[in-house]
Parts: sequence; C-alpha cells; structure tokens
Amino acid sequence: MLDGIRGTLPLDSLSPLRYPGSKRKLIPAIRQIIQANYDKVDLFVEPFCGGSSVSLGLLALGIVEHTLIADYDPLIAAFWKQAATDPEALIQLMNRQEVTLAQWDRWRNMQPETLHNRAMKCLFLNRTTFSGIIGGTAGPIGGRAQTSDYAIDCRFNKKQLAKRIRNIGKLRDEGKLLMPVEGTWQDTLRIAKDHVVELGATSVLIYLDPPYVEKAHHLYDRPFNEAGHKLLADSLLGEARDWILSYDREPLALGLYRDYSDIHQYSVVHHYTVKGQRDEPVPGREVLFTNLPTTPAGAIWLQDDDRSTNT
Ligand SMILES: C[S@@+](CC[C@H](N)C(=O)[O-])C[C@H]1O[C@@H](n2cnc3c(N)ncnc32)[C@H](O)[C@@H]1O
Repeated sequence: MLDGIRGTLPLDSLSPLRYPGSKRKLIPAIRQIIQANYDKVDLFVEPFCGGSSVSLGLLALGIVEHTLIADYDPLIAAFWKQAATDPEALIQLMNRQEVTLAQWDRWRNMQPETLHNRAMKCLFLNRTTFSGIIGGTAGPIGGRAQTSDYAIDCRFNKKQLAKRIRNIGKLRDEGKLLMPVEGTWQDTLRIAKDHVVELGATSVLIYLDPPYVEKAHHLYDRPFNEAGHKLLADSLLGEARDWILSYDREPLALGLYRDYSDIHQYSVVHHYTVKGQRDEPVPGREVLFTNLPTTPAGAIWLQDDDRSTNT
C-alpha cells in the first residue's frame, strides 16, 4: 500500500522530516474514512504533527482545503514555522551546513535562540541522527567511528530537501497551510476554533497521533504518560467536533476507547507483495478510532475490528 501512496503523491509533497512512527502509511486509510463522511474537509487540524506527513499528503491529494499543524516540541514547531514563513532562508542555511560529526556535535550542544537556528537544529539532527530522533541519547547515523555502510550524510540530500521545504512555503503562500503552532494539543484545539470562524469552515476534522505509550521516552523530547493518554480520551469522548485518532495496538489505548457505541475502531490492513504470489492483506499494528459515523465500504486495507477479540 505504501508503494501505492508513493505512486500518487509527488515526492516534493513528502515531509522533510524523518519521523519515528510516521503515519504516512495511514494516508489511504484516513482518506477512505474522510471520503465516506464528507464531500470535502474545510479545515484539517493535526495537534501532534511531528513530521506532518498526513496533513501534507491529504493537501497534496486535494482531500482537505486547509490544515493547521502544531506540536509541543519547540524545535519541531520552529521547523514548521520557519519553513512556512521563510523557506528560502532555511534552505540557504541548510546549504551552508557541512554534514559532519563536528557539525552534529555543534548542533546537538547548541541552545538556539532564533527561530531559524531552532528550525535548522531540528532539520540537521533529524536527518543525521539514528532513526530521526532529535532529543534523547540517540547518536549520529553511522556511529561516532563512521565505519558502517551508512555515513552521517546518507539521509541529507540537500537538493531534495530544498524542494520539500519550498513546497511548505508554497502551501503557506496559497493559504492552504495555516500558521503552524507551538503548543499542547489543548492549545491547538482552542486555536482551531478561531480559524473555523476566520475561514467560515463548515467541515472540520481533527487528526490526533499522540506519542507511543511504551516507547515515548526514547523517541520524543515530550513524553506522554498514561495520565496524558487518559486526559486526551476524556477530552475526545466529550468532543463535539469530528476526530480521528491513531494508535499502535496497545492495551491502554484499546481500553480507553472501546465500549462506546458512537466510537468506531478500525484496524489497518497492509497489502504486502509476496514474490510470485497474489498480494495478501496482513493486519498491521495500527488502529484508528473515530467519532465519524459512516464506515467506508470495500477497502481491503481498512477493516472493522472485532472488539471482543482485540484487547
Ligand atoms: C507520534 S508523534 C507524531 C508523528 C506524526 N503523526 C508523523 O506522521 O510524523 C507525536 C508528536 O506529539 C508531540 N507531543 C508530545 N506531547 C505533546 C502534547 N502534550 N501536545 C502536543 N504535541 C505533543 C511530540 O513532540 C511528537 O512530535
């Protein structure tokens, strides 16, 4: 299915950030749910945006008209703000970077005070650190000895990154990407209300992809504990606006959202190609919850879960 997405999404519309837990692979599933429920979405809100792959993908496919992306991590938020408002300054700064261990150490230790330096720190470390992890203890790609097959610059294709960064500025200029926000998901849900009024939006969809339950501390600088997941569930279960939520298949997440007749749960099914055989759908780890009422028909990669057997 991922190849199918690559086939239809222009390369320039992909995220410049590599993201642990990127939800790019969920775009077809989310698209299917959206199309079963709306003619069009005026405003798509992504409060845990990370690499923003879903927002960028849905904009590129013309499935949503406007998106509001936000993240609590100041480096990630700075990256999106800078790319949206002055992509050329970021590209120039990027082109001046030597992608070396010495530079990796410099960015890792720097406490940037300006927006463009915060954005550059985010981009540099994201593209040169093992698994794209910006904070924590992860080391540079290729290790400190740089003796592996992968060197520190193997994911730093400046030409390709420049195109992707320019695409973000273009989306902002066209008014499709609203000003990215640095804030908590609660801040973003509040701010989104003002945009609804400004845009005169009649269809609004919130897509939430909170940090993993188990691995949170290793992957992100802003861990999300069990209480955080419960608070989010309390808020969403009382939320009047439409929402879609993605989780890995974890007992905590499944327990929080089951037993509500108006919450639908979908298990995403991947479509792997086995050499010489017909493609067979394989159940993935990802689960989607939503308060949208209409279930899409006939999607092989989107399957209603049998709730009784899934916890
Ligand atoms: C699973 S990642 C999102 C990945 C994204 N969907 C993608 O495809 O790249 C979760 C994000 O939530 C952010 N985050 C953590 N706590 C948050 C909070 N309280 N409010 C908003 N964002 C938060 C993290 O910084 C991280 O970028």
